[in-house]
Amino acid sequence: MALKKIKTAIFISGTGSNLKNLFKFSLTKKSPIIISFVVTNNEDAKGIIFSKKNNIESKIYKYFNKSNAENKILKDLNKKKIDLICLAGFMKILSKSFIKKFKGKILNIHPSLLPKYKGLNTHKRAIENKDKFSGCTVHLVSSKLDSGKIILQKKVKINKNDNHITLKKKVLKQEHFIYPIAIKKLLSNP
Ligand code: GAR
Repeated sequence: MALKKIKTAIFISGTGSNLKNLFKFSLTKKSPIIISFVVTNNEDAKGIIFSKKNNIESKIYKYFNKSNAENKILKDLNKKKIDLICLAGFMKILSKSFIKKFKGKILNIHPSLLPKYKGLNTHKRAIENKDKFSGCTVHLVSSKLDSGKIILQKKVKINKNDNHITLKKKVLKQEHFIYPIAIKKLLSNP
């Protein structure tokens, strides 16, 4: 008998390349998740077009007021019986009370080797500091920014001729590699 897949929501704010990648993964036999819902704060997020094309339900939440927006999101997540949230380029910080309601069930992908370079502009900062390596991290979301338990990381070598654009591209490729593996790891060992 096929195992029941975990209903997952992906939160995005932009391009959605991680969304695309996770969707592709979710269609494979070995995937423990099914993507049931896409949440965004940005009506121009390209990922919405992808969701529509692929018949994934998506919804835009205007963030005029964070707690209003989060309450609406939570209501919808509960209605849809979502059991896992994957942040994938979601550029809003979730409140403590939101995180508490999904404790241990929110993953984030961050474009650096945490705990190095929390926050924004990670590639620029790594290049400016003349780091030899950068990378990406999948971690559980805790109430402190980019600080929850690390599930998986992948190093990327920074070459002399790399700039923040080439580095971003190289790191993104590795993000796509590790996010599905991190999901499987979390769900097989919660
Ligand atoms: C990814 O590089 C992700 O790691 C980063 O935004 C990008 C989204 O790309 N997330 C953060 O910086 C969160 N702090 P995508 O929309 O193509 O998946």
